[in-house]
Amino acid sequence: MLKMHDIITKKQDGRELDEEEIAFFVKGVTDGSIPDYQISALLMAIWFRGMTEEETITLTEYLADSGETNELPSVKGKKVDKHSTGGVGDKVSLIVGPMVAAANKGIYVPKMAGRGLGFTGGTLDKLESCAGVNTEISATEFEKIVADLGFCIAGQSKRLAPADAVLSALRDVTCTHNSIPLIAASVMSKKLASGSECIVLDVKCGSGGFCKTVRDATELARLMVRIGARENRKTIAIITDMSSPLGSAVGNSVELIEAIRVLEGKGDEQLTELCITVAANMLYIANAGNYEECVSLVEETLYDGSALDKLAELVERLGGDKRYIYDTNLFEESNVTAMLVADKSGYITKIDAMEVGKAASVLGAGRDVMGEQIDNTAGIILNKRIGDRIEEGEALATLQAKNLERAQLGMEYLFKAVTIGDTKPEERKIIIKTIGA
Ligand code: URA
Repeated sequence: MLKMHDIITKKQDGRELDEEEIAFFVKGVTDGSIPDYQISALLMAIWFRGMTEEETITLTEYLADSGETNELPSVKGKKVDKHSTGGVGDKVSLIVGPMVAAANKGIYVPKMAGRGLGFTGGTLDKLESCAGVNTEISATEFEKIVADLGFCIAGQSKRLAPADAVLSALRDVTCTHNSIPLIAASVMSKKLASGSECIVLDVKCGSGGFCKTVRDATELARLMVRIGARENRKTIAIITDMSSPLGSAVGNSVELIEAIRVLEGKGDEQLTELCITVAANMLYIANAGNYEECVSLVEETLYDGSALDKLAELVERLGGDKRYIYDTNLFEESNVTAMLVADKSGYITKIDAMEVGKAASVLGAGRDVMGEQIDNTAGIILNKRIGDRIEEGEALATLQAKNLERAQLGMEYLFKAVTIGDTKPEERKIIIKTIGA
């Protein structure tokens, strides 16, 4: 008879777990028969000892099978899923879902998203900052919206890969989140369970992502692409820079507003470039044309306003007021607005993504524990990017908060996140490399 004690010891010794052991572990995680402390002990052993590719694939398959799958039978067309490994200022899903749907090539985007925790934001919180929007909808409603609009962004069904939800929550509090096999199994199990034939992964690399180096991000990307291939899912992984926040807004309503600007064709250059790349790859992988044609298709949706209309339609179907999408002045204003100014002249050499994420969180945009109420209006708008010239006393960023105490604390964090130097740094590319398909 298998015992968790023996499985933990085996992994502590650096040995490979077999299928029976992994199946026993995932079953016990799902039905609650293995206590959190033993699950955590195995996670820590995996964090130290790693997993072979075979072990990771087996773990992924059992996690994916731990609940229901989301086949969406009424959706008659190719389904493409997109997943980011998480970062600061990452509002890409809010932009690429509408773009791919608006391209109108019979390709569907059923996007199940999450909430923010710690220094990273969550797509659902950003979308819900629009008055009336509720992303906690039934599986039936989700499927209907995907079929009608070509896409939907909503909360992940609790029945989809439930064992991953348990592992992810424990990884968060036991500092075992940044293990390459555990990230790969977590991401890919959800993608397998979500039933899409094609998967585009945005693997973030830098201080605001789980992978801090290009080497780690490449290893993770390759592993996930190989898992996709083994499971007959066409998978592309794009490694993208997360050493500084994506775009200029970090928070909830500020990020939704920034997403709207991109959909209006007036967005931040690097953010727009990334969204076009991700959306074009989503179409390309689903055989909508050659890559250049796919780029033109998605660019067109920004210029003709069709992608913006798609977002407005989604907001309406989720119970929200779509006028906000066309008039961002309607978004609620924060109680307090503060300005961080430069204490010296020079070039912006660093805007540390993780530190900016922490600053946004203390302003009220993030959560320390699951379920905590967040402040939709709290956040940061950066006026400068890395490489920009700044003069002493010039505004570096605007901070929004509910009260002065939070604004003051956010200011202290943000001040530490930004470095001003004498030499203009080299320009950093947003797309580092693409792997797969
Ligand atoms: N995203 C996930 O879904 N899981 C991880 O472990 C990391 C990023």
